[in-house]
Amino acid sequence: MIGPHKRILVTGGAGFIGSHLTETLRLDRCEVVVLDDLSMGRRENLHEAVEFHQGDVRDEDALRRALKGVDAVIHLAAKVSVRASTDDFINDASVNVLGTLSALKACAGTGVRKFVYASSMAVYADSPEPKPINEDYACRPISPYGVGKLASENYVLDICPRMGVAPVVLRLFNTYGQGQTFTPYVGVITIFIRRLLNSEPPIVFGSGEQCRDYISVDDAVTACGLALESDCGGQVFNIGTGTPVSVNALAEKLCELINPEIKPVHEAERPGELRNCIADAGKARRMMGYNPLGHVFDQLEDLIDYHKSLK
Ligand SMILES: NC(=O)c1ccc[n+]([C@@H]2O[C@H](COP(=O)([O-])OP(=O)(O)OC[C@H]3O[C@@H](n4cnc5c(N)ncnc54)[C@H](O)[C@@H]3O)[C@@H](O)[C@H]2O)c1
Repeated sequence: MIGPHKRILVTGGAGFIGSHLTETLRLDRCEVVVLDDLSMGRRENLHEAVEFHQGDVRDEDALRRALKGVDAVIHLAAKVSVRASTDDFINDASVNVLGTLSALKACAGTGVRKFVYASSMAVYADSPEPKPINEDYACRPISPYGVGKLASENYVLDICPRMGVAPVVLRLFNTYGQGQTFTPYVGVITIFIRRLLNSEPPIVFGSGEQCRDYISVDDAVTACGLALESDCGGQVFNIGTGTPVSVNALAEKLCELINPEIKPVHEAERPGELRNCIADAGKARRMMGYNPLGHVFDQLEDLIDYHKSLK
């Protein structure tokens, strides 16, 4: 994927996507540096060959230390909960917006030549139907998390070129896979599997007919690698599969696979959640050769086995 001897800083690298990414980069013979405050991530997620700096992405000294000799940055560090962002929007903006600005500022005058920013589908306006949307679709976020992600995208695209750094923005859709940091708020697949393995019903908010586009963490990692190696500075890419899956269909499938006696229960709709958000990832396919894995349902049995092995 990436050529050898690249030194890459992954902020938030001890978290869910970061730990998969750092391992892939390490196996690709990159020198990997991680800056993470371990608020969600875990040191044990990282191979001993990874140079680890425990620190806050808003701390300029910590960033400067972590950036020594670095060629490229993949900026993942963030608060990753739409729901938490509606209650604690100051903390969300502090980490997600000011954290991004600090990371950008610290890159000035260093050897960094590429800055990959992990944005989110949460930047988009709600879409009335579960049809794939491309990068030109209206950006009108309906949560503080989405507002912050969109602001950061724009800062990255504006500030990087002034410093001679090529920015790439990846709008990741719902990412699933092994090692997802468990909270009751993030990662519906992980939450449903954990509840069902505890003999608890999955809780579906609203009608459940809202559709999402679930991408494997392997695809998110591949997209980061492609963004590093391809000549696509200044571009924004959707990273999803194009396949809509309703929350009802997901809950029913997981009940069927884990415990068919349990039925999903419904609760009131939560604010800030998009009704439909499906990626048209054609641009990433054309410009970077991105080619996502198959249907999420084909990956569920392995994921369930993994969660059983943790019990
Ligand atoms: N998981 C998804 O479905 C998804 C979807 C779209 C976008 N994203 C984006 O991808 C990135 C990674 O998400 P993830 O799912 O791996 O979440 P995660 O919570 O597992 O990882 C985030 C990491 O950032 C670290 N962090 C948080 N605040 C920090 C701070 N102030 N300083 C330093 N480190 C800090 C955490 O300890 C954690 O290790 C985030 O930017 C997120 O917004 C994720």
